[in-house]
Amino acid sequence: MQVALINGPNLNLVGQREPQVYGSQGFEEFFPQLQKAFPSLELVYYQSNHEGELVDALQRLGASAQAILLNPGAFTHTSIALADAVAGIETPVYEVHLSNVFARQDFRKHSYISPHAQAVICGWGLAGYRLAIEGFLNLKEFKQ
Ligand code: DQA
Repeated sequence: MQVALINGPNLNLVGQREPQVYGSQGFEEFFPQLQKAFPSLELVYYQSNHEGELVDALQRLGASAQAILLNPGAFTHTSIALADAVAGIETPVYEVHLSNVFARQDFRKHSYISPHAQAVICGWGLAGYRLAIEGFLNLKEFKQ
């Protein structure tokens, strides 16, 4: 079973970028740990700082993955194109934010993505990606 993690702009800098907000561990270190935690899954990682490339990735991985964990970064609050891409694919999309966006500036409280997401996780740091996978797997088991 393939699960794709798609990260938007500036998330390549997690670990160095505002560590008081986003933590001090980067994805280079975290992603292999996540793979180890779910050895039966084929976890795929994609990051881009460009909106159109993220649309392409959602369309491409939407055709192969059983679930997508999407952190759209600042595009969360601006991008109708990403919202349309999420709405347009069958694969459930789990919206993940490292920080608690509701405890920050007002402009971060609105997401164009959330109405089309299966679930939203925020404020758990990198553990949010693990929680999203666990939620997805539990839901699948519960439904069967
Ligand atoms: C973020 C929250 C966004 O508001 C911000 O623009 C990001 C990261 C998060 O993971 O907390 O780049 O998506």
